[in-house]
Amino acid sequence: MKIVLLGYMGSGKTTIGQELAGKLNYEFIDLDQYIESVEKMTVPQLFATKGEIYFRKKEFAYLKEIMLDKDNFVLATGGGTPCYGDNMNAISQGTAHSFYLKHTIAKLVERLSKEKEFRPLIKNIHDHDLPEFIGKHLFERNFYYNRANFIIECTDKSIDSVVAEISRKLKPN
Ligand code: S3P
Repeated sequence: MKIVLLGYMGSGKTTIGQELAGKLNYEFIDLDQYIESVEKMTVPQLFATKGEIYFRKKEFAYLKEIMLDKDNFVLATGGGTPCYGDNMNAISQGTAHSFYLKHTIAKLVERLSKEKEFRPLIKNIHDHDLPEFIGKHLFERNFYYNRANFIIECTDKSIDSVVAEISRKLKPN
């Protein structure tokens, strides 16, 4: 089974993905880390030296590679992954199950204000502009996130309860 986690920056895709993969005894893949290991550069370095378009091309290429070549994994995508090119079709192909980890804007602002510096798209946004930026960005991106097979409301839920909810959706009985 191929399980793909989607959601805005700071929505817990990596943490939830690691827990879920452990529980299912599946491989855990973080798309950003995968790109970093193949490209031998961090995501902020890739944005700074090669630019976002280069990053998006690589993101699409490696996403397709993972979706086609691998099985029995949990994949944490980057916040922008579903929103570019043909990525959402690559994510939805075959037997893949996709989950949108949904949070309120207020919760994303709270979570991201502490970890802006590692995220090239928001690191230069002032804290007082963050709610408006995230609100608009999410409005544009929701169209893609909402194409996930399942939407999991995550605000104020523990990691364990989100993992349990995803597990129940995978095994309805
Ligand atoms: C991005 C999210 C990041 C990373 C890159 C772009 C985005 O991943 O892929 O900085 O466009 O939202 P996280 O969602 O893991 O922060």
